[in-house]
Amino acid sequence: MKKSLILVGTQWGDEGKGKIVDYFSSKFKAVCRFQGGHNAGHTIYQGKEKFVLHLIPSGIFYDHVKCFIGQGVILSLDSLLSEIDEIESKGINLEGKLRISRYCSLLLPIHAKIDQLREDHKNSIGTTRRGIGPAYEDKTARRSIKAFDLEDKDLLKKKVFDLVSYYNYQIETIFNSTTFDPGEVLKELIEKYKKASKYFGDVTDTLEDIYGDGDPILYEGAQGTLLDVDYGTYPYVTSSNTLATSVGIGSGFPKSIFSDVLGVAKAYTTRVGEGPFPTELFCDDGKKIADIGNEYGATTGRPRRCGWLDLEALKYSAKLNNLTSLCITKLDVLDDFNQIKVCIGYQVDGELSSFKSRLLHKSKPIYKTIDGWGCSLKDAKNFNELPIEAKAFIELIEEFTKIPVSLISNGPNREDLILR
Ligand code: IMP
Repeated sequence: MKKSLILVGTQWGDEGKGKIVDYFSSKFKAVCRFQGGHNAGHTIYQGKEKFVLHLIPSGIFYDHVKCFIGQGVILSLDSLLSEIDEIESKGINLEGKLRISRYCSLLLPIHAKIDQLREDHKNSIGTTRRGIGPAYEDKTARRSIKAFDLEDKDLLKKKVFDLVSYYNYQIETIFNSTTFDPGEVLKELIEKYKKASKYFGDVTDTLEDIYGDGDPILYEGAQGTLLDVDYGTYPYVTSSNTLATSVGIGSGFPKSIFSDVLGVAKAYTTRVGEGPFPTELFCDDGKKIADIGNEYGATTGRPRRCGWLDLEALKYSAKLNNLTSLCITKLDVLDDFNQIKVCIGYQVDGELSSFKSRLLHKSKPIYKTIDGWGCSLKDAKNFNELPIEAKAFIELIEEFTKIPVSLISNGPNREDLILR
């Protein structure tokens, strides 16, 4: 049997995972999200139409694919319902095609409000302002409203009232802002859940059945390794575990951990929000990458910080995720550069350093400069058709990380993919 596949971002998110999941979805019958929430923004093209999916797995446009949202995902009913509406307006019926774990913790509008108030107050980390952090905090603090709580109206009322009073106290005393009416929060929650309830059910057993029938599963990671709450650039991280190893917990299907792991990396590096970024460029080259790569957030529209590819960070990601192969995206964005730099290590105060160092914010990159290819990669259909300099770039990545590059994206369209 073909192995299941976990697809993860190896940088600070926005590696172009949507297109790659879309490509692999054609080969799997089930696609499952296992962490994060609607802070993700996976862009895919359906014919000429562009879709940005935030919660629903990117395989949704294939007739043969069933999509799952595991309990590791923090679920906003607002975001879910608007995504469902958008997809159904294109004539795709999601009933029987989308299943969400009833163990998911729900993200409520009050979480987004708290996230925004905190970001505007002090020590902003540049979150997506969607409430992801507070919702994950609630889960760990055991006060989350879980989807299954909607099945017990009395318990639900108590939990919602407790939660709202917990946050209202902060909203009033710390932020001096408008509080929430618990009765309204409860009413809205029940109304929204009524619309979405048919999509909730058991995910673990269904994944087990699909796998048991001999069909491998595609697991769609969100954000990126360097944003992992444990192994990323803490505290400038998201609030979930983004590593491939979190798939067992997040999907609820333990055999998911015996999958191949494909790491997606851009041919350069970007980051949104605050936090250390050793290869960040503040010169024209950075602006050029941003312009050609259209580096603006799919979820928030924020401009992304841009820099050269950081192989030291990529090696760290490769190890942590136990990558079996790599996909390099947006190689074509570098078409116009005479010289391309690649970071192969760091120095702090003249001493060699590594990504794991707590002094990442002081790390100066050590670069290797290679010749650019200076032509369009658009027409290359296989690895051999790439210019010698582009091949050398890919081979340098493989040599440094010891991970084979199995896929190269050389343009925004579905067909702009080189398989190796
Ligand atoms: P949060 O996930 O909204 O709490 O944001 C925490 C950090 O993760 C911020 O720096 C965000 O910009 C970043 N982040 C969250 N989701 C994504 C994503 O899908 N792509 C890129 N960065 C993200």
